Amino acid sequence: MNNDEFRHWGHRVIDWVADYLKNVEQYPVASRVKPGDIRSRLPAEPPANAEPFDSILRDVEEIILPGITHWQSPNFFGYFPSNNSGPSILGELLAAGLGVQGMLWATSPACTELETHVLDWLVDLLGLPQPFKSSSTGGGVIQDSASSATLCAILAARERATAGRSNAAGSDGSLVAYASSQAHSSVEKGVRIAGLGSDNLRLIDVDEKFAMRPDRLDEAIRADRAAGRRPAFVCATVGTTSSTAIDPVRAIGEICREHGLWLHVDGAMAGTACLCPEFHYLHDGLELADSYAFNPHKWMFTNFDCDCFFVADRGQLIRTLSILPEYLRNQATESGAVIDYRDWQIPLGRRFRALKLWFVLRSFGVEGLRARVRRHIELAHQFAAWVQDDPRFELAAPVPLSLVCFRHRDGDTANQQLLERLNASGRLLLTHTRLDGKLTLRLSIGQTNTESRHVEEAWRAIQETASGS
Ligand SMILES: Cc1ncc(COP(=O)(O)O)c(C=O)c1O
Repeated sequence: MNNDEFRHWGHRVIDWVADYLKNVEQYPVASRVKPGDIRSRLPAEPPANAEPFDSILRDVEEIILPGITHWQSPNFFGYFPSNNSGPSILGELLAAGLGVQGMLWATSPACTELETHVLDWLVDLLGLPQPFKSSSTGGGVIQDSASSATLCAILAARERATAGRSNAAGSDGSLVAYASSQAHSSVEKGVRIAGLGSDNLRLIDVDEKFAMRPDRLDEAIRADRAAGRRPAFVCATVGTTSSTAIDPVRAIGEICREHGLWLHVDGAMAGTACLCPEFHYLHDGLELADSYAFNPHKWMFTNFDCDCFFVADRGQLIRTLSILPEYLRNQATESGAVIDYRDWQIPLGRRFRALKLWFVLRSFGVEGLRARVRRHIELAHQFAAWVQDDPRFELAAPVPLSLVCFRHRDGDTANQQLLERLNASGRLLLTHTRLDGKLTLRLSIGQTNTESRHVEEAWRAIQETASGS
């Protein structure tokens, strides 16, 4: 593809994406293909010779599109959102065009400095404690995912607890980690990868709102201490995956301080709400945390992948992850005046993700972001009120933000059938969880273009399907 052809097809692809996003709500939300359908339409061998680009694009329409579940449909209410927006897509495109590797400040200074700057902005916007700023003892970095952020936090906690010995000699199985029974599975994955072992992860009981019980955490830490183990790490969640329950960060933080544990706060979904000052209460006690993460790639109109990870003491993270081979040595690093983000993450290489985040912040403006987030939360409250007014349904959990957990009162089988029928209809997509042992439907609002008419239509579809019509 020469430069003129790139220009031509680039315009065509942007047109394609613009048309797709304009028409996306016309598609059935969940893909209807069966396992193997897509592969059966692909040739067994790659082409020996170049193919015309229009035939590649035709295959996107004919082969790939049927296998797409339309996450950008305003009728997508599953999981948590993974929304996007024009500015974000263009930022991603520009990053691909520049094609830089931002592993060191020296390998592309703007890649590092824009990232540091935008993450400093977010400290103030989200009401995070000042030590999370680069001008203080800590700083922020963009990770691919909340899972990676949690893993980095566990690794730093492991090294702090063992004064750097685990990196040198490996883990000895004595360190213990804690999270609530509602914490995301990435905590267990991180504990496994970091060599602590799943058997050394304690899943702490939750209260009636599905939030971690600090008294139970304290008991568990004391019991482990008494048994000669070494409590090292706690993950509190602000906005759990099942129900957006809010763990009491301050009470948990005080326990961590008393016993000397690393506290990581996972705000993957809920963090975005804190763009709005009225939700800063979600972060109460965060000054007691060692690290914090949230995902603009969920709810902040920034396409996957983009997780913002903040630490209060960057030295701890860097000492954990830094190895400096000869081929990466350079004057800027040696001057000590720059950040080298390779030392803040698992991989060496890194993409210029800050561009899309910067584009989003500037194109929406803070007030524009807040308005959309508030709208999603209002819509969720409206939906929750409809559920409460219908005697066939009940709410399964409080609705602090934009996720509504609800169920039909007729039990698991009725809810399972309802879910399957709704999703098969193509009118919307819901997912499920289990709360108090009962199958629960989740309606998660957060796609960029979801408006009241989509939520009204979702409720209509749910009511009609429940009535068997
Ligand atoms: C609370 C929470 N933490 C972590 C994750 C994992 O996110 P990621 O896909 O960025 O690793 C999720 C995903 O939904 C989540 O809800």
